[in-house]
Amino acid sequence: MADTLSITDNRTGKKYEVPISDGTIRAMDLRQIKAAPDDFGLMTYDPAFLNTANCRSAITYIDGEKGILLYRGYPIEQLAEESDYLETAYLILFGELPTHNQLQQWTSQITNHTMLHENIKKFMEGFQYDAHPMGIFLSTVGALSTFYPDAKDIFDKDSRMKQIYRLIAKVPSIAAYAFRHSIGRPYNYPDNDLSFAGNFLNMLFRMTEVKYQPNPVLARALDVLFILHADHEQNCSTTTMRTIGSSQVDPYSGLAGAAAALYGPLHGGANEAVLRMLNEIGSVAKVPEFIKKVKAGEGKLMGFGHRVYKSYDPRAKVIKRIADLVFAVTGKNPLLDIALELERIALQDDYFVTRKLYPNVDFYSGLIYQAMGFPTEMFPVLFAIPRTAGWVAQWEEMLLDSETKIARPRQIYTGPVQRDYVPRDKRS
Ligand code: ACO
Repeated sequence: MADTLSITDNRTGKKYEVPISDGTIRAMDLRQIKAAPDDFGLMTYDPAFLNTANCRSAITYIDGEKGILLYRGYPIEQLAEESDYLETAYLILFGELPTHNQLQQWTSQITNHTMLHENIKKFMEGFQYDAHPMGIFLSTVGALSTFYPDAKDIFDKDSRMKQIYRLIAKVPSIAAYAFRHSIGRPYNYPDNDLSFAGNFLNMLFRMTEVKYQPNPVLARALDVLFILHADHEQNCSTTTMRTIGSSQVDPYSGLAGAAAALYGPLHGGANEAVLRMLNEIGSVAKVPEFIKKVKAGEGKLMGFGHRVYKSYDPRAKVIKRIADLVFAVTGKNPLLDIALELERIALQDDYFVTRKLYPNVDFYSGLIYQAMGFPTEMFPVLFAIPRTAGWVAQWEEMLLDSETKIARPRQIYTGPVQRDYVPRDKRS
């Protein structure tokens, strides 16, 4: 017998059989349930999409209870150990690990697209010296749509591919220029001899040396952080990318919106918030007092908790290991002891245990970024660079899905019933 859900409407006594597939029912199947012929039909109410699958996706799998994260079936721990960001981006986009030749071609395409149009540089120069780099980043990504009008041809496979190369290749250049702008230094052009992460470090930190030599430990650590952040199924920014993309706008405009969603402190801005929190706490001795305040509802323990993970975020485990490697080069971040003490207390405190609140990816990433010399304002930008792979993969998957329609949820109207306009002199 096929899986179905039997529903009896107590208002009418009518019975309905609603098919169940993939552990879901289709919300539209409920529309047939009407109290009267002119009734609109039953809807579901799900603010923040807590229990609504918005799409079918073959890209990323998360088991939040068990702390499992897979890209195209491959465990994140194995990719972090064995792969590099560009290979992982290829996997996320095309579904399979590349052959040697495919990887070479992919890497050369990305490398060839790292330069920014000189007018983009001029555009970026217009920002105030103290502009937040994430504000610069998302505005500049949006502005790319005016430089590449061919990007509107979203149903042409070759055009889509070209925009994907451009986006993945240019976001580090934009991020680096935003950083250099904020510290008043000249922009550095890409060095195509270097790896993806090595070139990014070059664009950020090169001074007067002719050839920048990235520290291999730091370049690898950054690359692994990029792998960990490359995709995370239907999170807030990815949902934004899909929603904007469903109107069939070009991907640069979509990505500007996705980056804006990432900017918020509950999403990609969380690692910036973690560092502020650790600075505010100030010392290990003050950790118990801070935890007490959080439990009393006076603020959150930033970098803890996740909508999907109800156990230790697997990315946080990998990051903790990388932190040791990075600190061996840069010296230990003095805030690390406060973070470790926060984690130690929270993991045995009833408040956090019963709510299944564990460290998420952002709890330790900020400490690493800070030790590597990034100001906190750069943290969300560092998240946006690798997430670009996930955003464009999810955008393309959405476009090619025959079930895609423009995203347009319903509402429960709570305003006044229809009434007549009152002339100004008659209003009390
Ligand atoms: N500190 C203290 N209490 C928390 C925290 C936290 N970090 N997170 C959740 N809670 C509490 C809530 O107050 C709530 O308690 P209650 O049941 O007594 O009301 C309970 O745990 C459930 O929390 P919700 O807010 O319902 O969980 P939701 O799934 O909506 O939120 C979120 C998830 C936004 C990540 C939340 O845990 C949070 O704000 N964390 C801090 C910010 C953060 O680190 N964000 C990064 C997320 S990862 C990423 O985007 C890459």
